[in-house]
Amino acid sequence: MNPPSVSTASPPAEPQAEAPRGRRGVRWLLWGALVALLLVAQSLLVGLTLSYEEARAQDRADAVAAAAAGELRRMVQRSLQSAQSLTWNDPPPTQWRYDAQEMLRQRHEFLHMELRDTDRRLVVAADTPFRQPVFGVMARSELEIEMHAVCATARRVAAPLFSRSYFVPQAGGLGLEVIDLCLPLDRSGQPSGYMVATLSLSQLLEDATNTIAASDHELSLVEADGTRLVRAGLHRGAGVYFATRLVDLPGNSLQLRADAAQGRPGLIPNLTLALVVGLSLLLLGLVVLLARDVRRRSLAETALAEALAFRRAMEDSLVTGLRARDVRGRITYVNPAFCAMVGFHASELIGSNPPPYWPPERIDEYRQRQTDRLKFARDPALQREGFETQFMRRNGERFPVMIYEAPLLDRVGHHAGWMSTVLDVSAQRRIEELSRQQQERLQATARLATVGEMASLLSHELNQPLAAIASYATGSLNLVAEAEQEPATAAETVGMLHQALERIAEQAERAGRVIKSVHAFVRRRERSREAITADLLIEAVLPLVRLQARKSGTRIDVDCPSPAPRVWVDRTMVEQVLLNLTRNGIQAMEAETTPLEQRVLSLRVARVHQRWVRFEVEDRGPGIPAEVAARLFTPFFTTRAEGMGLGLSLCRTVIEQHGGALDFGPANPGSATAPGTVFRFTLPAPDPARPGLPPGPDDPA
Ligand SMILES: Nc1ncnc2c1ncn2[C@@H]1O[C@H](COP(=O)(O)OP(=O)(O)OP(=O)(O)O)[C@@H](O)[C@H]1O
Ligand SMILES: [Mg+2]
Repeated sequence: MNPPSVSTASPPAEPQAEAPRGRRGVRWLLWGALVALLLVAQSLLVGLTLSYEEARAQDRADAVAAAAAGELRRMVQRSLQSAQSLTWNDPPPTQWRYDAQEMLRQRHEFLHMELRDTDRRLVVAADTPFRQPVFGVMARSELEIEMHAVCATARRVAAPLFSRSYFVPQAGGLGLEVIDLCLPLDRSGQPSGYMVATLSLSQLLEDATNTIAASDHELSLVEADGTRLVRAGLHRGAGVYFATRLVDLPGNSLQLRADAAQGRPGLIPNLTLALVVGLSLLLLGLVVLLARDVRRRSLAETALAEALAFRRAMEDSLVTGLRARDVRGRITYVNPAFCAMVGFHASELIGSNPPPYWPPERIDEYRQRQTDRLKFARDPALQREGFETQFMRRNGERFPVMIYEAPLLDRVGHHAGWMSTVLDVSAQRRIEELSRQQQERLQATARLATVGEMASLLSHELNQPLAAIASYATGSLNLVAEAEQEPATAAETVGMLHQALERIAEQAERAGRVIKSVHAFVRRRERSREAITADLLIEAVLPLVRLQARKSGTRIDVDCPSPAPRVWVDRTMVEQVLLNLTRNGIQAMEAETTPLEQRVLSLRVARVHQRWVRFEVEDRGPGIPAEVAARLFTPFFTTRAEGMGLGLSLCRTVIEQHGGALDFGPANPGSATAPGTVFRFTLPAPDPARPGLPPGPDDPA
């Protein structure tokens, strides 16, 4: 388990409200810059890719043009050499014609060959066997201008030369672009004629194109003004990437143009470009996802920070002590209230076992209890109940605490320790003690008041036995004096003396009983509950009740079943309740409203439930008016001049302390003159299954 935060000091939290707003602004700025950078980088990449593509296409066109030009030059050179080979040993015309026909069969670029005399008149001619004679549609005689021009120049320079190209119409409206090669012939140093070969430009170009693999380019021969003469290649040139090369021939030069079939690089069909664009989009998508993730994270962070702040504020404001322990009983967390309660700093408590707030003399006992509790602490009943124990403050002062413990579960629901709520109950205990003392003082005061009021009655009552005792004593003294003078009557005197002394003893005993009952009542006794029969309780108060009843001529009527039910009570307290209620009843009947013969006070006892015994005190007084009834149990409420108003409030306290209930009502609701009042209260009966033990929990009275 990760121990929870143990810091109990709260950091200042004021500037936190402004900080997130500023940080958010910076974060947006950063994101904006990142996206802009990405866009610029991607555009540059696309631009560079495009220009690279273009440069590559242009380079390729240049290379193709150069290669084709070179090849063309070589072909022309070879054609020239072939033509020269025909004139090498100056063959007679028939032989030359035979050789020329052989040459025409081998080399396709030659279309027509002729031997001419020094005046350039035709001697003999041969045509290629692969096609119709080239000068079939238009006679050679009509197309000799170029030939004459080049041959004249060739004679002058004494070297073979190529003519300018010219167009020869063919059957079906077609035509051929051709070029003449003129070789001046000499015989023993004297000009002897010319050999003229007509070459197909398109065949030359095609042969050159076939040797260099340039299927994706269109090759053409053009004139200086750009007019195209012949073309070769499978594809048409797009006119975007092209290159021209000059092919120098002896006496003439041709311009070769290579034109790539490929147009300007499109954005989509280009694979490299598609890759770059695809990757860019992917990158952009990733950035968006990243941004979303960052946003989610920052939201979660904010929520977490708020939850933490809330937790801290809550912990700091709690007045209840909180303490967490791990499975081995070591403290892992305490809140400020707990530290304040025991007077130790959190750092002194975290990790301690035994903790410093255990009183040293009880460490063994507490350790045992901890082991037991940690074993059974998962029992929900135990958690609800809690338990009371004693802790020690730093200054050594012991104080009572109430502890409630609950198991602590970690993220995955594993039992990781215990969380305890600790309440300092010393103040509560002090208040309870104070209230108990006050209650006792109040009861003592009430008892004294009762006794004080009775004192006059008591003296009157004691007067009777004392007067009797005095007169018996005087009589006895007289008898003794008579016996001394007349010894004969001594025996009779002894008998009379015996009787008189018996009377004295009787009266003395009666006086003693009165005093004893008052004494027993007033004497402050330990509060203790015992099982006692109801008739004993009544008998104990009866002498005092009778004492008061006699004054107003009230009859006492006791109705108690036999055997009398037993009750589980504090005897003195219940006797006081009986006394107070009977006294109130007698006092109510002292008023003139109740005729003398009707003055009866009834005391009744009945078992109303297996666990409850009911007592009733009924009088024939004037009853209780509603306005008095409303305040009857209020302490110090009285309608009597000499009353203190404590009797009934005391009675209710005592009865309720026993778990019973006290109420009242009219005794004879029908009677207008003397409706009377009956006070009823219930007291618990001891458990018959466990006599001598307090009654178990049961339904209320
Ligand atoms: N049986 C009764 N019949 C009529 N009135 C009664 C009866 N019992 C009590 N009271 C009324 O209730 C009032 C309060 O009774 P309570 O016993 O508390 O005080 P008290 O009798 O006046 O004084 P003390 O403290 O001496 O008992 C009485 O003053 C009286 O007016
Ligand atoms: Mg009273």
